[in-house]
Amino acid sequence: MQLHIERRSQRPLYLQLVEQIQERIRSGALPAGSRLPPIRQLASELGLTRLTVHNAYAELQADGWIESFVGRGSYVAERPGVKAQMRPSPVLPPVPLLRPGALAEIMRLSHQPEMISFAQAAPAQETFPVREFGRMIQQVIAQDGAGIFDYGSSQGEMTLREQLAIYLLDRAIQAPVEEIMVVAGAQQGMDIVLRALLDPGDTILVEQPTYLGMIERMQVQGLKLVAVPIDEQGIRPDALETAITQHQPRLLYTIPTFHNPTGVCMTPERQEALLDIAQRYSLPILEDDIYGPLSYDGPAPTPLKARDTTGLVIYLTSFSKVLMPGLRIGLLSASSPLLEGLVAVKRLSDMHSPQVTQRALAEYLARGHFAAHLRATKALYRERRDVMAASLQRYFPSDATWSVPSGGLCFWVGLPPGLRSTDLYESALEHGVAFGPGQVFFPEHSVQGFMRLAFAACSPEAIERGVQILGELLHDQLIRRQRLRVRAFETVPMV
Ligand SMILES: Cc1ncc(COP(=O)(O)O)c(C=O)c1O
Repeated sequence: MQLHIERRSQRPLYLQLVEQIQERIRSGALPAGSRLPPIRQLASELGLTRLTVHNAYAELQADGWIESFVGRGSYVAERPGVKAQMRPSPVLPPVPLLRPGALAEIMRLSHQPEMISFAQAAPAQETFPVREFGRMIQQVIAQDGAGIFDYGSSQGEMTLREQLAIYLLDRAIQAPVEEIMVVAGAQQGMDIVLRALLDPGDTILVEQPTYLGMIERMQVQGLKLVAVPIDEQGIRPDALETAITQHQPRLLYTIPTFHNPTGVCMTPERQEALLDIAQRYSLPILEDDIYGPLSYDGPAPTPLKARDTTGLVIYLTSFSKVLMPGLRIGLLSASSPLLEGLVAVKRLSDMHSPQVTQRALAEYLARGHFAAHLRATKALYRERRDVMAASLQRYFPSDATWSVPSGGLCFWVGLPPGLRSTDLYESALEHGVAFGPGQVFFPEHSVQGFMRLAFAACSPEAIERGVQILGELLHDQLIRRQRLRVRAFETVPMV
């Protein structure tokens, strides 16, 4: 097979391979039943890593272009590409902002078999209450009959909104059902707020660093993004005020509790200062509290919304991290006139979220199952967090830095001075470990010296093993760097 890899291209190497092999199959150069070269051979012919070729073959197999048999190799399928035709075409006209970005890569890595993935801030599947939730679904279908599959309310099922109002009391938020709407996960909540409040070209303030899915979402809408630095107490009020006066933003997006990616919690003093500034400049705030309930060392910090007396805070959370992300259920809470506008955007976007899952979640909450689930899940995640803390202590170089998060799903690790997470990323993947490279959480990818390690979805054994591998790779890099320095010193002419 004559394949050509363009190393300077922005296109990932494995995708270049996928596309070229597809092309050969389409043109008949590789007919059905022909054998593809073994991974090791193709990797060495093209000077690629085996992982890259493996990823390409896995993608071709997933789309039905080839079939792989353990011990026998990979063959062009009888009806190649049939499955792929059921997916959106990969050759749609390229719209730069809609390219799969870092978020897509992080989600892909998390589903690779045999990869220890610290990449995605995902909950642990083994905590999902599949049977109980299944029972709730059967029950609400039996109760409601066909009506449950009819069109429903864009604001969300009333039984669920009633339960959500009770749920919010645990976060010290008093919101009447009229001020709550159901959304398809926090990501849709952000999308709705941005569509409702901002036009292309408007400026939005975010924390630096911030949630990757928000950075990519803003870029799609052509928003101007201004990043405000945070420290260990949360967003810096002085920098915030400067950004407001210089850029006249339309919205501030913040994650005050168990911030993603840093794990920082905004102190009560900072929260008060932030609310005061927002009031002075009439700046609406979108508060993302998706990790709020996941506190491991004591009661969860109070969210901004609970202190807000101005109505400027729009509150967003979801059941993705605390229950099951596949439910796609979250909530927005805002003062009444604003909420009406948000509901109108939701209606135009997807009419409403499915009634079946909303009704089942309402039952699940009403029966107290969720409270018990959260208790057990927090105990499991606390243990995994502690294993990661101990493993970092044991295996990472002494000049790496981190603090143990008191909640949420991630460690934010500062690498030893001079090392960049990009230098480690590829070799970590080759050794079967994925992580979130720090720069993707900075809007301009400007800071290189961090990595985000999500711990909840990995077993304690996988956490220890994965951290050990990363630690060894970091030590190797430090040694290599030291050798380079010695060599540079040796070549200095002695006079
Ligand atoms: C801070 C933050 N907000 C929102 C989301 C998206 O959540 P959901 O799955 O509910 O859409 C995530 C997911 O990682 C997140 O970390």
